[in-house]
Amino acid sequence: MIATTNQIEVHKVKESRIPQVDWDNLGFGTVFSDHMFVVEYRDGAWQKPEIKPYGTIAFSPAISALHYGQAIFEGLKAFRNDKGEIRVFRPERNAARLNKSAKRLSMPEYPVESFVDAIQQLVELDQEWVPNGAGQALYIRPHMFAIDEYVGVRPSQSYMFVMFTCPVGKYYTGEVKVKVEREYTRAARGGAGNAKAAGNYGAALMASAQAQQDGYNQLLWTDSSTHEFIEESGTMNVIFRKGNTLFTPAVSDSILDGVTRESVLQIAKDWGYIVEERKVSVVEVIEAIKNNELDEAFGAGTAATIAPIRVINYEGNDFTLRPYTEWEFAPKISDYLDQLKRGLQEDTHQWNKRVV
Ligand code: COI
Repeated sequence: MIATTNQIEVHKVKESRIPQVDWDNLGFGTVFSDHMFVVEYRDGAWQKPEIKPYGTIAFSPAISALHYGQAIFEGLKAFRNDKGEIRVFRPERNAARLNKSAKRLSMPEYPVESFVDAIQQLVELDQEWVPNGAGQALYIRPHMFAIDEYVGVRPSQSYMFVMFTCPVGKYYTGEVKVKVEREYTRAARGGAGNAKAAGNYGAALMASAQAQQDGYNQLLWTDSSTHEFIEESGTMNVIFRKGNTLFTPAVSDSILDGVTRESVLQIAKDWGYIVEERKVSVVEVIEAIKNNELDEAFGAGTAATIAPIRVINYEGNDFTLRPYTEWEFAPKISDYLDQLKRGLQEDTHQWNKRVV
């Protein structure tokens, strides 16, 4: 069936795959909803966007994204409540960051309003795919990549921008153990660490896999020149609490400005906490754990939301924080954000976009 809604041509599936979904075992990123949004950039302009059945796309093996890594992505989520209402959390913020990443990788920007409108239409069409179980959401994955069939190195002249969605469960199911990485680095000064570039994730895989073999969920990445200052944890920003103060590495050209990070820090300020965005040294954190002064440490990201860090391994030793049941902030912000995103808390900052 073909329909045109607000300039997006919509081709619907003949039959939904919904009956095949095992809603109690969604995992993360393995189940894909019925439709996807696709638009191409050619001859200096974005072409006609389409929503069509989710499926494979054929490409030449020469497309430049595959060779030179002009590929960027975003992650955001849609939430359902018991009344059947559906909201997407801060889509304008992800649209703006996509454009920041695009600029860094010499790719074209996509208009913020068109990004938000595409999400509205895609999620509305696939609204039955938005789960509402505890910890569940519809993960939306916008991504843009270079499709010039050309092997010379230059910014591609053509691109594809695609968004598909996945009903997901929790990314991490419990407390997280991390290992301080002092040899490899996620991003260097002057690099593209603050862009959500596919290559940043690929380059992090080897060291992360090594940490997992050693029994840790993720790495605590440190700065590239001294390895003394904390940057991120795995694919998340990292936040610490000591008493009434939350402190976190300040964003820089090697640290991603996470939407969850920014939201958590804003709410913490609303609640009267002191928030410090600054350099955070590994030694400061380890000493604070040793002196029983570090109250909490957690990762903040779209996929995981809040991931409590219980163990930090540094130079071969595990340093353990007190049990999560004794923590004050992470459980509270975790519940608050969940309720806010489902429309069950007053949306004081007008972060939600109501879709249904
Ligand atoms: C997100 O939290 O959306 C991320 O970027 C993590 C993702 C790579 C799974």
